[in-house]
Amino acid sequence: MSKITVSLIKADVGGWPGHCSVHPALIERAEEVLNEAKASGAIMDFRVLACGDDLELIMSHDRGVDDAEIHGLAWQAFEMATSVAKGLKLYGAGQDMLCDAFCGNIRGMGPGVAEMEFTERGAEPLVAFMMDKTEPGAFNLPIYKIFADPFNTAGLVIDPSIHHGFIFEVWDVLEHKKVLMSSPEEMYDILALIGAKSRYVIKRVFPKPGKLPADEPAAVISTEKLYQTAGTYVGKDDPVALVRCQSGLPALGEVLEPFALGHLVSGWMRGSHNGPLLPCGFDYAHPTRFDGPPRVVAAGFQICNGMLNDPVDLFADIAFDLTRMRVLEIADYMRAHGPFEPHRLPMEDMEYTTLPHVTKKLADRFQTAGS
Ligand code: F6R
Ligand code: MG
Ligand code: MG
Repeated sequence: MSKITVSLIKADVGGWPGHCSVHPALIERAEEVLNEAKASGAIMDFRVLACGDDLELIMSHDRGVDDAEIHGLAWQAFEMATSVAKGLKLYGAGQDMLCDAFCGNIRGMGPGVAEMEFTERGAEPLVAFMMDKTEPGAFNLPIYKIFADPFNTAGLVIDPSIHHGFIFEVWDVLEHKKVLMSSPEEMYDILALIGAKSRYVIKRVFPKPGKLPADEPAAVISTEKLYQTAGTYVGKDDPVALVRCQSGLPALGEVLEPFALGHLVSGWMRGSHNGPLLPCGFDYAHPTRFDGPPRVVAAGFQICNGMLNDPVDLFADIAFDLTRMRVLEIADYMRAHGPFEPHRLPMEDMEYTTLPHVTKKLADRFQTAGS
């Protein structure tokens, strides 16, 4: 059986307008680049999508993860889209292109990457999740629920092929370390870490030995900027994830179920506010209110011999309408708090802050507080 690789590589190379959405001309330009690569046989198939101001390249190929040619191709597509963005004077044109020239691996150069190599099964359903106005830790809660929460994933209780649980690879993005942990045995320890979602992020989930190869991930999440800058805090990075489903893995509906909560995530307005995550269809992934609320879209693929074929817009379903209404109400409530925590993030997690200027200005007016 042959292995395939799916690479989801994303970058914000210009917003239309502000940080709201991706101009169709950027999507067209990226499609031209990837079409040529497909025609030359460098990749098997691709789709170019968008979430908020992020351009999302989904590619299938047989070159494995961290391949210089595939990463170089993504870089080239982003460069071409950047020149279109500059021509149209789009906002922040080229903002995620942190390096001048491609140097072999796109990780650490600005774009975000989620990619996995696996043996294509007889039928291979895969979901590409794309978020805007939030950070990789936003995936902690849903990924945990999908692979470890029996109240979310019925299969953990009633399907013998997943009853023994999954292995979580958790990264400490400050210390630049990772640990493999086993669920359900270490469930509480896993939660103790990943509840601190700005520091500990789930990077991958693996099946345990059984129906599927234990070294082929069931899920992978992008963590790029955090990875690159481990040791110092430099802000959010709109994340993406790939999750495989069915027969020996959680069902498609179990993979989507955690998003019915509309959980609170960080990264709204100036990367400095908490707000509820709005699951929405592709046509609604244009955050406008207070640059948000943060969005997630889900593209469902049924891979066939390496071909991605057209995705299904999974959150377009009316089954998520109630979630959306609740999220909008929660967004309203959070907004009413203005600059107060916990709507605004705690100081150490803020992306923009004038606080040092304010404290400096007031330094000689501060007095020892007596009784
Ligand atoms: C949040 C985000 C936006 C910008 C905001 C200010 O992650 O992207 O909310 O932070 O629009 O943008 P600048 O500083 O570019 O004017
Ligand atoms: Mg932007
Ligand atoms: Mg973005």
